[in-house]
Amino acid sequence: MILIKPLHASDTYPIRIEILRNGIVQNYRFAEDTDSDTFHFGIFDNNQCVGISTYIKKECPLMKNASSYQLRGMAILTSYQRQGLGEQLLQYAYKQLSKGNCELIWCNARETAVSFYKKLGFTVIGNPFEITGIGTHYVMYIRI
Ligand SMILES: CC(C)(COP(=O)(O)OP(=O)(O)OC[C@H]1O[C@@H](n2cnc3c(N)ncnc32)[C@H](O)[C@@H]1OP(=O)(O)O)[C@@H](O)C(=O)NCCC(=O)NCCS
Repeated sequence: MILIKPLHASDTYPIRIEILRNGIVQNYRFAEDTDSDTFHFGIFDNNQCVGISTYIKKECPLMKNASSYQLRGMAILTSYQRQGLGEQLLQYAYKQLSKGNCELIWCNARETAVSFYKKLGFTVIGNPFEITGIGTHYVMYIRI
């Protein structure tokens, strides 16, 4: 059974390391992880966490709007990708964040994830840029 629920920051670390840091145990914590206005959501299959996402209250440098959250650390375990779980996890977050003071969600999207975010309604803004060791990224946003 698939279930989505809030997580503690530390619950996200194993999947961040495995999927977003290729198993290398470094740079997997975010400075805002334990801020009171940061949200972490996980998607579970029979009590196993198989996907994660983190929302940090932060303005997008390219889209001035104080009611903005940055989506970071979005990842689904490899064997669960392309089964609609990432989409469900994002839709859940839209609902949760729109209950509060959130008008815009943005992210620095890896080139390989741009199609996913576009499918979910995000738009690219600005020019691509490089993050050392990870590759080309695009700023993307959606108004909710
Ligand atoms: C990107 C990611 C979070 C997407 O999650 P997912 O569960 O695999 O995505 P979904 O199955 O919900 O995909 C929804 C739609 O997005 C699009 N999409 C998803 N992954 C895609 C891909 N690799 N290439 C092209 N389109 C893709 C498709 O239109 C898909 O619908 P479809 O399968 O019916 O065609 C996941 O693949 C992942 O964890 N990737 C590795 C980590 C990563 O890159 N994270 C993002 C960092 S910015």
